[in-house]
Amino acid sequence: MITDENLKELWSKFYTEHGFKKIDGYSIIPENDPTVLFTTAGMHPLVPYLLGEPHPSGNKIFDVQRCIRTNDIDSVGDDWHLTCFEMLGNWFLGKCPKEEMIKLSYEFLTSPDYLGLKKENLATTVFAGDETAPRDDETYNAWKNCGINQVFFLGKEDNWWALGGGVGPCGPDSEMFLDTGKPKCCEECSPACDCGKYVEIWNDVFMQYNVKGVGEQAQKLERPNIDTGMGLERTVAILNNAKSVYDTGCLKQVIDFINDHAKAGYKESEKATRYYRIITDHIRSSVFILGDIRGIVPSNVGQGYILRRFIRRAINCARYIGLDSSLFANIADLYVDKYGKYYDDIASKRNFIKDELLKEVDKFSKAIEEGHKEFEKVILGIEKHKQFALQKGETVENKISGKAVFRLYDTFGFPFELTKELAEERGYSVDEKEFEEKYKEHQEKSRQAAAGQFKGGLADSSKQSAYLHTATHLLLAALQNKYGKEVKQRGSNITPERLRFDFNLDHKMTKEELDEIEYFVNDAISKAIPVTCEILNLEEAKKSGAEGIFGNKYGQEVKVYTIGEISKEICGGPHAENTSNLHHFKIIKEESSSSGIRRIKAILD
Ligand code: ALA
Repeated sequence: MITDENLKELWSKFYTEHGFKKIDGYSIIPENDPTVLFTTAGMHPLVPYLLGEPHPSGNKIFDVQRCIRTNDIDSVGDDWHLTCFEMLGNWFLGKCPKEEMIKLSYEFLTSPDYLGLKKENLATTVFAGDETAPRDDETYNAWKNCGINQVFFLGKEDNWWALGGGVGPCGPDSEMFLDTGKPKCCEECSPACDCGKYVEIWNDVFMQYNVKGVGEQAQKLERPNIDTGMGLERTVAILNNAKSVYDTGCLKQVIDFINDHAKAGYKESEKATRYYRIITDHIRSSVFILGDIRGIVPSNVGQGYILRRFIRRAINCARYIGLDSSLFANIADLYVDKYGKYYDDIASKRNFIKDELLKEVDKFSKAIEEGHKEFEKVILGIEKHKQFALQKGETVENKISGKAVFRLYDTFGFPFELTKELAEERGYSVDEKEFEEKYKEHQEKSRQAAAGQFKGGLADSSKQSAYLHTATHLLLAALQNKYGKEVKQRGSNITPERLRFDFNLDHKMTKEELDEIEYFVNDAISKAIPVTCEILNLEEAKKSGAEGIFGNKYGQEVKVYTIGEISKEICGGPHAENTSNLHHFKIIKEESSSSGIRRIKAILD
């Protein structure tokens, strides 16, 4: 039985022996990168070094990096996907013959002193070539020279690696798979199929290009690099012939713990299995986020919002399998016992992690209680409507509208399944299709806003918050008017009571400067300017001169809000219809947020 601890040791031993230097993994919250919420790959914190900055530890480095990938959240529950995983990574910064790196990967995978996998059981994929980059014959030949028979050429979809959204260092990659021995699903069966014959374990990326902005052409990097990443949990599972990542190590321990305490058994039904796994995965992700040095807690914005979603989703799943959510604290203990050994912050934050988990469990229970009251109101409304219709000789279906189901979900955190269950108990059905539509709309908005400007209150579309969103745009316009366009948003958080806005400025603002900013915003308010919104694709938005972070987080289409000649910004909204709605803007505090960053708190009164 090989454990994750063994695998980390082997990784360290192998790359040290080959002249690589160990570096520390980074925080799970990216530093100075407002374009993404979490560190998604080992290379992510190393981007400056991949773009040419010399690394203090030299040009051959390796590490273990905690990663969070929220784009996999809907796949969690299957055998292999996790929102949180540890990535074993190593880098050759600078020109290195590909063959050398491939040989190292091959040796690590097959040497009896390391993973000891049989070369007959391995398969690899190589970039097939397109208009950006040629077919990677060098890598193909390198694998063949190692004696790998199954080498597949695949296109950009499978063999090109870039950070989400395609901005930053990127290039063709070569992926390594274990052939599970299952029969081919079809003539063309390859690692590109999801039939389960091939399971990916490792990826060597040849970072030869850089994309500076969304939609821009890839440019050749002066100094190419090699970036490799192996998923720890998956590889351990594969090495142990396990059927899923939940069948080994700490994840298994947590599944077993839940099995001892829940009413439904782990494999009792497909659904139960999925719920068990979601709890196991999401609480681990929550422990990693809460146990990060950056001190994130559940909230309605940015990383805090994702954390809240993880915990609340786990609570819902716990409800379905009959598990008391207060036991999340015990699950957290299991994770802290395990990961505290590697990550000091997790160890020192044990009580904080458990307290925050339990606080959120408590908050959510209260929200659910409120939701029950709201549900009764919905039923009462339908009944009244029915009576009224009856008088007119019409009939009304016993059906709760998707809009109402969505409101229960959005405002009270009521999961769809819960509303459906309650409805069925009372002889009602729910409009699932309409709910799905509303849900999708909301997901898109949250995705843009959460990944975007960290603007607050994702679940909060109250008028007051909408007005504060508009005030935030006016505030940025006022700051740029005074100090120049170099002043940019560095963070924003809105509650229905106040806005909080972080921006770059090199000095503490004087009373006079603050008055001037306040005057600018109030002047715009008094001019009663309409706030208009148009949907543009990102390129058009950029050309139109809209403010925004043109990173990788927006979808194809974005909303651009315009306030007369004063402001044009990409934003998920919602906003006031007219600046006059804002009434009066008042700055209540100006302070330092971090080095070179000022923070303004303001209200509308
Ligand atoms: N950056 C590459 C990956 O995440 C190695 O797969």
